[in-house]
Amino acid sequence: MDNSDISNVLITSDEIDKRVKELGKEITEDYSGMNPLFVGTLKGAVIFTADLIREIKTACELDFISVSSYDKSESTGIVTINSETKMPLVGRNVIIVEDIVDTGKTLLSLKQRFKDLGAKSVKIVSLLNKPSHRIIDDLDVEYIGFDIPDEFIVGYGLDFDEKYRNLPDICVLDESAYQ
Ligand code: IMP
Ligand code: MG
Repeated sequence: MDNSDISNVLITSDEIDKRVKELGKEITEDYSGMNPLFVGTLKGAVIFTADLIREIKTACELDFISVSSYDKSESTGIVTINSETKMPLVGRNVIIVEDIVDTGKTLLSLKQRFKDLGAKSVKIVSLLNKPSHRIIDDLDVEYIGFDIPDEFIVGYGLDFDEKYRNLPDICVLDESAYQ
């Protein structure tokens, strides 16, 4: 594969592993005996979801939702649901698993949607957080893996135009790739 657009590694796969284990431990403690329902957001969070759920040491269930709001490297601000959750959410303790919080629009809209569908509680775990891009100020993100600077990043599930999801590290995409 041609990785010439990747300028540097921001977070190595070892650092990701360590942090995912810590998040798993914290969530296990908080949700012990509550049978939480993890809802991974496709496609960006699929690798994080797969790794995180194996660090959850209490009974839990898993579903996915497919959303999109990005056109290549630009947020369109319009959140589209491409495929819905399959499991009933009524009375469930839902944990949304997200790859990155950027403007916050995707998560605000999902949190509201799941509450409207009858979830008992809705919390968010996001591997990455880009605070400098936040538009929605009052969005609570209960579990965050790493705060990152204002760079467009790829790898570990995150894409640019559907590419680079397979990189094991989280890398900065060179601006020349999208300008
Ligand atoms: P938000 O609604 O603006 O918070 O956008 C969140 C979604 O945008 C994430 O779930 C990602 O799919 C995508 N996204 C935001 N920043 C990046 C980035 O740096 N690299 C890849 N995808 C990103
Ligand atoms: Mg996403």
